[in-house]
Amino acid sequence: MKRLAVLVSNAGTGSNLQAIIQAIKTQELKAEIILVVSDGEDASGLKRAQENNILTLVINSSDNLLKILQEKNVDYICLAGWKQIISDEMLDKFKNRILNIHPGLIPDSLDGVVKNPDGSEGLWNKGKFTNIAIQNFFDQHATYAGSTVHFLSKEFDFGKVLKRCFVKIEKEDNVDSLYQKLKVEENKIYVEALIQLCNE
Ligand code: GAR
Repeated sequence: MKRLAVLVSNAGTGSNLQAIIQAIKTQELKAEIILVVSDGEDASGLKRAQENNILTLVINSSDNLLKILQEKNVDYICLAGWKQIISDEMLDKFKNRILNIHPGLIPDSLDGVVKNPDGSEGLWNKGKFTNIAIQNFFDQHATYAGSTVHFLSKEFDFGKVLKRCFVKIEKEDNVDSLYQKLKVEENKIYVEALIQLCNE
C-alpha cells in the first residue's frame, strides 16, 4: 500500500481530500492516508480527516514538515490547496513524489499551450490561487475552465502533467458556480492520477 500525506489549508473546502478518502474506502485506490497536514487550525480538510480517523497535524515550519514526512515513510505528498512554499530540499528528497492540483491548464512544456476541447487556448493561470484563478477565466473570456494534476517542480505552477480536466463555461456561470463544477472534475482527476501511481 502506498502511503499518502495530504497537505491542505483554509483556502479550500477539503473536497480533493474527501475524494481521495472516498476512493480508498471503496478500494478503488489502493493506498492509505498516513497524515493530513494543514498550516492552520481552520482548514475544513482537518475536520474531514478527523471524521475519518486520519492523523492530523498543524504545522508551519517546512523543516519540521520534511522531517515528519520522511519519518512517516510517505510515498506521495498530495497538495490540495496548500499555500506554503515547498522547499527545494523537500522537492529533491521527494522528486516526482509531490503532486499538486492547480486550477489552470498547465502545458507539457514551459512554452507550450493547452488546447481547450473547442480548439481555443486554455489558460494556465500561473501564479494564481483558487478563486483568483477562477475569476481569471472570466476576465480573459475563456470558453473553458480547467485544472491540472502535476508533479511539483522547482518551476512555479509547472511540472510533469499527470491529468487535466475541462469544464465548459456557460453564460449564466459565475465564480462560485464554475468553481463548483470544476471541483467535481478536479476530484475525479486527482483520484485517477493517484490510481495510476499507486495501483500497480
Ligand atoms: C483546488 O481547487 C486546487 O485547484 C486549488 O486549491 C483548491 C483546494 O480545494 N489549488 C490552487 O489554487 C493552487 N494554485 P479543496 O480544498 O476543495 O480540495
